[in-house]
Amino acid sequence: MKNIAVIGVGYVGLVTSACFADLGNRVVALDINEERIEKLKNGILPIYEPGLGEVVERNVAAGRLSFTTSYKEAIKDAEFVFICVGTPSGVDGEADLQYVRQAAESIAEVMDHELIIINKSTVPVGTGDWVADIIRAKQPEEIPFAVVSCPEFLREGSALVDFMNPDRTVLGSLNLEAADKVAQLHLPLRAPIIVTDLRTAEMIKYASNAFLATKISFINEIANICEALGADVKEVAVGMGYDKRIGPHFLEAGVGYGGSCFPKDVLALKHMAMKEGLHPQLLEAVIDINNYQRQQVINKLRDLLGEDLSGRTIGLLGLAFKPNTDDMREAPSITIVKALLENGASVKAYDPVAMENAGRILKNITFCSNPYEVAEDSDALVIVTDWNEFKHLDMLRVRELMRQPIVVDGRNIYDPNLMQEMGFAYRGFGRGYNGTRIESC
Ligand code: NAD
Ligand code: UGA
Repeated sequence: MKNIAVIGVGYVGLVTSACFADLGNRVVALDINEERIEKLKNGILPIYEPGLGEVVERNVAAGRLSFTTSYKEAIKDAEFVFICVGTPSGVDGEADLQYVRQAAESIAEVMDHELIIINKSTVPVGTGDWVADIIRAKQPEEIPFAVVSCPEFLREGSALVDFMNPDRTVLGSLNLEAADKVAQLHLPLRAPIIVTDLRTAEMIKYASNAFLATKISFINEIANICEALGADVKEVAVGMGYDKRIGPHFLEAGVGYGGSCFPKDVLALKHMAMKEGLHPQLLEAVIDINNYQRQQVINKLRDLLGEDLSGRTIGLLGLAFKPNTDDMREAPSITIVKALLENGASVKAYDPVAMENAGRILKNITFCSNPYEVAEDSDALVIVTDWNEFKHLDMLRVRELMRQPIVVDGRNIYDPNLMQEMGFAYRGFGRGYNGTRIESC
């Protein structure tokens, strides 16, 4: 049992707190957002993440997990302090480190014993050294500490499983004794542990996210070529994926990547490279292709409904950036809704869990209580998020409810042939000529 403080109770911090507590440690989780901490103290989760509620509840009841807004309280018994605050995009895409700075300063101000400070936030290369400088400068008296980088690789929607079963644990520090202690903490996760220097660990995180984003933009570019040449990108991806050097994951074409990480991290890496006088042309292409995929929804709707979308009612199924989350950060739905409204269309939408968050961002659209309400009197439906509940809708009922049976499938969840047989004008992404399968040349 170790004493751990976790700074920030967002998607990463709350999962980290709950999972380390579940492994038998005593965790105090801190946030400066009083509303979030108040909710957690009352047993209410501030975010949606499948399974997280039970783990939090179990560990609070066992006395291993508690919540506070006081740095003094969080740090007083801690041996390890995890920084899990946000690092959003700042000016020109550079990572905004204001929350990391505040966290480092607050830790320094109250620390009265030796600490291992572990950075789990995704931060530009060199931030670990910068955090150490801030702490040294802010300490009222000199107390030894170590900074270790331990980037997090979990995905929203499967965060608990990902945290508990990582492919690897990456630790960066020049202080090998501290790195070893952090490695011990991660031993129950039974993943390979890579110990390297701070900067290399920080770069592993950016390189991993940028590579995954590149895979997505690559398959999207292939999808666009497939569409022009009459091939089916889903089958292309399956055929590619069996090659062990390529792998089957992150080859799903569609409206592109969103979320709080890929967009900001690719931009931040590009910014880091440009600051050094480099020309990160691959990263630029990845971003351009991703932006183009969102525009493709509008192009496909114009193709089916005519150039002028004004007066049309477009129904969106899914708003969150991916299924199983309520996170709307950089969701493709935001760009699509904006473009539709600018073109004079009306928008109806439904998402199983993200509508509350969406309501704060998306104004002038109608939120519906189920997919069939969205379909009613819509001129076209757009699948924006691949929630499971959209995969087996009663499509004949959907067709009857719609003003026109038109579907733009931004996540390729439907079979183009079946949709055509049911009487839909259907457009997926990269599914052969206009969504039609070519049987032979
Ligand atoms: P988030 O926005 O959900 O949560 C951040 C939390 O930090 C908020 O609750 C905020 O109130 C709190 N905070 C801000 N300043 C603080 C301070 N000075 N002291 C205490 N708390 C403070 O962010 P997130 O999605 O959990 O991401 C956190 C970091 O982890 C980011 O760097 C992100 O890139 C990285 N990351 C995120 C994911 C993910 O799936 N969301 C996965 C891996 C890595
Ligand atoms: C991603 C990474 O997968 C995590 O390893 C990382 O820890 C995290 O970012 C982070 O740094 O925050 P996340 O954004 O939660 O996780 O979700 P993903 O499953 O990676 O999906 C990201 C976006 O890519 C979603 O919009 C998803 O719809 C899209 N995507 C994913 C595709 O368009 N095609 C695919 O084949 C896969």
